[in-house]
Amino acid sequence: MENKIKAEFNKHFPGTMYASAGRINLIGEHTDYNGGFVFPGAIDKCIMAEVKPNGLGRVRVYAIDIPEDNYAEFGLNEEDAPAQQWARYIFGVCREVIKRGGKVEGFDAAFAGNVPLGAGLSSSAALESCFAFAVNDLFNENKFPKTELAKIGQSTEHNYCGVNCGIMDQFASCMGKKDHLIRLDCRSMEYEYYPMKLDGYKLVLVDSRVKHELVDSPYNKRRESCERVAKKLGLDTLRDATFEDLERIKGEISAEDYQRAHFVIGEKQRVLDVCDALVKGDLETVGERMYQTHEGLSKEYEVSCEELDFLNDLAKEYGVTGSRIMGGGFGGCTINLVKDDLHDKFIEKAKAEFKKKYGHEPKIYDVVLSDGAHKVEE
Ligand code: GLA
Repeated sequence: MENKIKAEFNKHFPGTMYASAGRINLIGEHTDYNGGFVFPGAIDKCIMAEVKPNGLGRVRVYAIDIPEDNYAEFGLNEEDAPAQQWARYIFGVCREVIKRGGKVEGFDAAFAGNVPLGAGLSSSAALESCFAFAVNDLFNENKFPKTELAKIGQSTEHNYCGVNCGIMDQFASCMGKKDHLIRLDCRSMEYEYYPMKLDGYKLVLVDSRVKHELVDSPYNKRRESCERVAKKLGLDTLRDATFEDLERIKGEISAEDYQRAHFVIGEKQRVLDVCDALVKGDLETVGERMYQTHEGLSKEYEVSCEELDFLNDLAKEYGVTGSRIMGGGFGGCTINLVKDDLHDKFIEKAKAEFKKKYGHEPKIYDVVLSDGAHKVEE
């Protein structure tokens, strides 16, 4: 009898299901907070939440995948921040909606996901975007456009989670479109969808399973370096900086800041090159630029690690067309552009050789580009 009542209750008073995706980025790393270009897309791995207004002015939420301390309950005022890091993403989203004049009247929710945590696939942006979309739909008649929902997620990171991130992850998570990448100009916020045509090639992620954690990481330090150089040049961001500008002030900035800015200035052009090459079907150029980005992220920006450099070297050795560390860095995945006929052999080798050296196999994910934040219709 109990089960019948429960099932009937849920049938007649159901919540609403929302989802938002993790992301890949083909190229354009650490350019977003420098006003540059990025080229991400949403993937078929997401966070999903069932959400139901409770009219209590409070949030009660279960994180299904988290083994301990997975229930949080909090109010919606600034002083009500929950202790659990995972719940602060949701609290932050609610606060940022309220700060923008939106409404949040309290809700119950449970969520889970299949975006691997700490792999550089933006599980946190997926969580933020999922709840931003839900709150916008349930309490605000969808008055915030999705681009604003992305900003709500980004401000959540800045103000409640301690990461001074750019807009790329939340933008891709909210705005992603099936089978497309998005070229986003992070200064003007203009964007364009590019169909991903990879005739004869596949994109594959190789996850080192080295934990990637941006909170308290040197991520914010990288951003500060770039800001110092931009300021020295009298610019808002490095977007308009050239290699010549950088040489001119070389003596006045630290060697480290020079290196960081050198990477960012080069990366700006690489994104544009890759977009053009993709349209022409010139995947060799796409791959070349990917290797150059890896080199820069490893040697100049210094956000790689031994395991990711090893995976990159392996890719080169086996003739993979392009390979590079993806996302913020300090662990996580490489993204690889592999010819169809090399795909199986490369994966087999990457697994075996990585295991021989580091004692565990990397995880492999094929990339399927999918839609961003949405309501899951029954
Ligand atoms: C993280 C940040 C993004 C971006 C990337 C690096 O994923 O959240 O804003 O800066 O790192 O490209």
